[in-house]
Amino acid sequence: MTDILEIPILKTAHSRLSEVDFDNLQFGKVMSDHMLIAEYENGEWENARIVPYGELGLLPAISALHYGQAIFEGMKAYRMENGEVAIFRPQANFDRFNLSAERMCMPAVPADIFMGGLEQLIKLDSAWAPTGAGNSLYIRPFMFATDAFVGIRPSERYTFIIFTCPVNSYYAAPLRVKVETHYTRAAQGGTGFAKCAGNYAGALLPTKLANAEGYQQILWTDAETHTHLEESGTMNIMLVKEGKLITPKTADTVLKGITRDSIITLAKSWGIPVEERTITLTELVEGIQQGTITEAFGAGTAAVVAPIATIGYEGTDYHLPEVSTWTVAPKIKEALNAIRIGTAPDTFDWMVTV
Ligand code: COI
Repeated sequence: MTDILEIPILKTAHSRLSEVDFDNLQFGKVMSDHMLIAEYENGEWENARIVPYGELGLLPAISALHYGQAIFEGMKAYRMENGEVAIFRPQANFDRFNLSAERMCMPAVPADIFMGGLEQLIKLDSAWAPTGAGNSLYIRPFMFATDAFVGIRPSERYTFIIFTCPVNSYYAAPLRVKVETHYTRAAQGGTGFAKCAGNYAGALLPTKLANAEGYQQILWTDAETHTHLEESGTMNIMLVKEGKLITPKTADTVLKGITRDSIITLAKSWGIPVEERTITLTELVEGIQQGTITEAFGAGTAAVVAPIATIGYEGTDYHLPEVSTWTVAPKIKEALNAIRIGTAPDTFDWMVTV
């Protein structure tokens, strides 16, 4: 996969693998046996190692806890039909991780630690990659600032970690989502395109308020006018309108989703017209009412392709047609899954076998 740095491995003496109920996986609750960890100090990354997954000793003053210099990625490895384990588009996550790092004034993580460490970690814990429809090994790389210093400046020390967890679907059923027109996720020039921890913290209150109204998620709108769609709390948003796939274009305020990009690539390869552009709430509501918008779904690593049944906007619920009548989103989901488990050719070279 990449130049292999010799990363020392300390294996756990007590694997927890046999305790896992792989038939009833829940998202993000059970972590695999090992994690990769490396530290940055004096301008360089050092001490990369794989150790048993466990607690970290941290000082209360570390700056990530106070000022939010913390970024992460979400990626997945799959158990292929031939029994091998392969990671989906890891280079894309690596590239995005270092873009997030740059925006948050953090050091880049080199390929030999991120990609090389990832490969060795997944190899070591490959038995944790589950079989079964919708199951995968979720991979969480992250970095946070560790200077114990009460003052605002970029930290001089950081910790980078990758751990993994076997998961099932993030969302079990078609979603009810609410268009958010008061709170804001991201503004021009802000951190919306970065996968930084604070972007998700800021979403918690509006999501909680939407949950109280019976919606599982929110649909963010632009900060300036709250008149056009941006993304959902955990995924990018895509619509099918008159046979075309339409999705907000990514810029400063929208995460450049790797699942989003994969879906666009697949759709184009099938001759489905794709439009990355502004989608106003008027177009959304009128399209659902007039029957021109026939499918709406979220796209993300965790969510994969998550159908949306209902969109709430200004107190009215707008219902999409029954998912059983959809033609595009289910086809995309099936095609992505087939590539990931190796039952369809990997035409775009997305899978990296470990
Ligand atoms: C992912 O899709 O991997 C994310 O990071 C979103 C998170 C809500 C699980």
